[in-house]
Amino acid sequence: MPDLAWVNGEVSNLLETKVSFLDHGYFFGYGVYEAFKVYAGKPFAMEDHLDRLERSMKEIRITPDFTRDELTKNIYDLVRRSELQDAMVYLQVTRGVGPRSHSPLKNPKPTLGMFVSYLPPIPEEIREKGIKAVILKDDRWAHPFIKTLNLLPNVLAKQIAEENGAYEAILVRDNGSISEASSSNVFAVFGDTIVTPPLDGKILSGITRLVVLRILEKSNLKFKEDYFTDEQLRNADEVFITNTGAEVLAVTSLDGKPVGKGIPGPKTKQLYQLFMQEVPSYL
Ligand SMILES: Cc1ncc(COP(=O)(O)O)c(C=O)c1O
Repeated sequence: MPDLAWVNGEVSNLLETKVSFLDHGYFFGYGVYEAFKVYAGKPFAMEDHLDRLERSMKEIRITPDFTRDELTKNIYDLVRRSELQDAMVYLQVTRGVGPRSHSPLKNPKPTLGMFVSYLPPIPEEIREKGIKAVILKDDRWAHPFIKTLNLLPNVLAKQIAEENGAYEAILVRDNGSISEASSSNVFAVFGDTIVTPPLDGKILSGITRLVVLRILEKSNLKFKEDYFTDEQLRNADEVFITNTGAEVLAVTSLDGKPVGKGIPGPKTKQLYQLFMQEVPSYL
């Protein structure tokens, strides 16, 4: 019998199960999961798995539209229907389907899916001999310079920004230095100098940032790639973000307090104009 899947209440053959391209689990890794073992047709440590699932959903702001009892019943039903004795139940809940945007979904309906698969036991020989392992640096997930789909922290940051009436979340490291924003690079103007954090492997190399730096090189404006702290940012004369959609966009308020005069500053306006003038040369 093929592996059985259950997605949003529909049971099907796992190989034929489909979820939407617009699912935020697919776009952003916006989801949580559990995997539990089935011994003699019965799921192992169900209550502990469900406790962890509930904790995980809460952490990433997924509000389930199913009760724990309904979920438990559906898991037991699927395991029974699979007729498997030694198996693994894989279960995941994502934020749901909606437009591809870091912003929260308007009416989120979480996608709940699970399947049951035969799980072969660890071969006796391996159990007797043990396994080999290597030791690697724990840098999960410390690769923000790669433009991956691993965007859950970014999407959550954007969500918190919007909950606070803000458009973007500017991110600060433990050591107080600003890195970038949830989906943009950050620039600040201190006096006559425009500054943006350097590409140190811990920020995304934005194409808009790159084009802005090329424009600055050709201009007579002073600029440098350097670190600045959140404290310095709060006292900057101007702040702006860059990304593909927003181009060069002034940040005029930080945590509810005005940046500079609280209106887009002259350097930001000039750079926006220079950027728009440069666009045709990249087409
Ligand atoms: C984390 C992050 N930084 C910076 C950027 C800006 O990149 P680009 O100018 O290529 O759009 C993005 C764009 O989505 C982003 O997600």
